[in-house]
Amino acid sequence: METETSGIRNVAVIGAGTMGAQIAQQIALLGFEVNLFDVSPEQLERAATSNQKHLMRRVEKGQLQHDAAKAALARVHPQTDLGRAVTETDLAIEAVVEDVEVKLRVFADLDRLAPPHAILATNSSTMTISEITADLPGRVRTLALHFFNPVLVMRLVEIAPAPYTDPEFVRRAERFTREIDRDPVVLHKEIAGFLVNRVLWALRKEAMWLADSGYADPQDIDRAIKLGLNHPMGPFELADFNGLDVVLLAQRHRFAKSGDDADRPPRILEELVEQGKLGRKSGAGFYDYATAPASKKES
Ligand code: 3HC
Repeated sequence: METETSGIRNVAVIGAGTMGAQIAQQIALLGFEVNLFDVSPEQLERAATSNQKHLMRRVEKGQLQHDAAKAALARVHPQTDLGRAVTETDLAIEAVVEDVEVKLRVFADLDRLAPPHAILATNSSTMTISEITADLPGRVRTLALHFFNPVLVMRLVEIAPAPYTDPEFVRRAERFTREIDRDPVVLHKEIAGFLVNRVLWALRKEAMWLADSGYADPQDIDRAIKLGLNHPMGPFELADFNGLDVVLLAQRHRFAKSGDDADRPPRILEELVEQGKLGRKSGAGFYDYATAPASKKES
């Protein structure tokens, strides 16, 4: 039975999009101080509003005390200065756009600005941590810490170290994951997509191929998967939920790496993104959320 603590008190989350905002909030709910960094003050504002809404819904449902919600919201400190955000951090979690060039820059800054004992983690699963940090002086303290959407609900966190990650950093990350009321699964060796997304990609690829080839409509494929496999969402609903731009970027990354025609982004996905239909966040994707929501709209 594990009794040691992670020793982590202060956390920094880099990027205040859907994932970053909720990762910060989940950590703050368990009593940690979190600096939430973004270059955009408007994005930080949106993150705070969204987190407030989720926690107040819990208060309304009697799942959380009002004072506890207020305190958890106040423990997330918005920051637009990266140096200030990470100067005292014990753990930094990067959750910026799925673009390797951007991540390389962020990790170079984190390695320079965060104290030497701090764990530097990416929430990405599209790329492995060694694609991002292999040339970093402090690479032994880097690993992937992969949360699931919506973070405030989903219990799993995948931990995927690089071959060079110091095992002590992995153990601390694993303990921390339990301290924030999440269940870790640690991979023996890294692979892009880790466990869950690889299985999800296989499901999604087949579903999109079936739709692209005219075998059935996305809506009917979703209905079949929900009724036949008891999944809470079908693959198209889930793609809308995660953001079609994010799904497409991940698919392009895989195609660029493998060159395998089977990894080519499906036409149906390219077309929707070209039309600005990015899923729930834009009001339309495979489903039209303005008129006929597939399930409840993200608020
Ligand atoms: N953010 C935060 N909380 C949310 C939420 C959101 N966007 N949507 C729903 N919730 C919360 C609700 O507040 C509610 O909380 P409660 O149980 O404490 O009251 C709970 O989720 C259930 O919500 P609802 O009753 O309103 O709705 P549903 O029963 O339809 O559940 C769902 C919504 C939890 C999103 C469910 O449909 C689900 O589990 N879908 C599958 C999600 C999934 O597969 N995620 C993994 C995606 S892959 C990934 O994240 C990998 C990454 O690399 C992209």
